Amino acid sequence: MSTFLRRVVLLTGAGGGLGREFAHQLLAAGADLILSSHHPHRLTAAAEFAAHHQTSPHPGRIRALLPADLSDPASCDRLAQQVMHVAPDLDLIIHNAGVGLYGPLNVIPPAAIERLLQINLHAPIRLTAALLPMLRHRPNGQIVFISSILGRAALPNISVYSAAKFGLRGFASGLAADGYCVSTVYPFFTQTDILDAPQYGEGPPRRVPRWLVDQPRPVVRASLAGIAARRRHIFPGWKAKLFAVVAAVAPDLLPPFSRLV
Ligand SMILES: NC(=O)c1ccc[n+]([C@@H]2O[C@H](COP(=O)([O-])OP(=O)(O)OC[C@H]3O[C@@H](n4cnc5c(N)ncnc54)[C@H](OP(=O)(O)O)[C@@H]3O)[C@@H](O)[C@H]2O)c1
Repeated sequence: MSTFLRRVVLLTGAGGGLGREFAHQLLAAGADLILSSHHPHRLTAAAEFAAHHQTSPHPGRIRALLPADLSDPASCDRLAQQVMHVAPDLDLIIHNAGVGLYGPLNVIPPAAIERLLQINLHAPIRLTAALLPMLRHRPNGQIVFISSILGRAALPNISVYSAAKFGLRGFASGLAADGYCVSTVYPFFTQTDILDAPQYGEGPPRRVPRWLVDQPRPVVRASLAGIAARRRHIFPGWKAKLFAVVAAVAPDLLPPFSRLV
């Protein structure tokens, strides 16, 4: 994983389940990290987790911890300014922050819809636009979007989340067409707090069965391998790969699958 040695990386959503693991593995690979998350205490905990049990001969360093509320455009702009200040040599952005939302569209409060779109879609676009002038001059410049298998095919009751994840995929394709080095990652259901995201509507809460979910460590390992290889589309794990194939060639099989989740 020497590709990350001394690469300067901005990681959003660093305090979450995948974010903590990204920070840990990137640090082990020698990266120079700027970590951002919503809650300062989760950011500090993620930094401690990342530094813990590092056995790598060339560990990187954590250059800055920058809390930001990506649901607020002003906070998003502030984050971009801070990044320009602490990391004018930025090489890689991993847009990982995200929230979930489950339920029939007609019962989800409009404010919850707006908030999800702000965090999952508008903020990555806004941050990328602000940081691109800096990044475009870096020889190893790269932008990574953490989409989802639900950015390949939608399942019932998750339309707004899918809209944002499809949107990221479209935005990434546009940037790639403009000549930027872009990777989009499509994880399968993974054991993190997002699986307990707010659910609206009647009926008992839905839970993805444990036997079906992936674990953050291998998902992040496979994601970083794809990012290091500068792959355009990354499916971290066999379930993500299988879902993408079925979504492409036999989408009618997906609605029965959705009854499991
Ligand atoms: N886990 C899955 O099943 C799965 C599958 C496919 C794709 N993904 C995607 O993977 C990414 C990481 O999610 P995760 O699974 O690690 O979930 P998670 O544990 O819930 O982490 C979500 C992260 O997003 C941050 N965040 C939430 N609201 C924010 C806001 N207003 N401003 C700034 N940051 C905010 C959180 O910050 P705090 O920690 O500070 O609260 C947290 O660090 C997301 O984009 C998600 O959509 C997840």
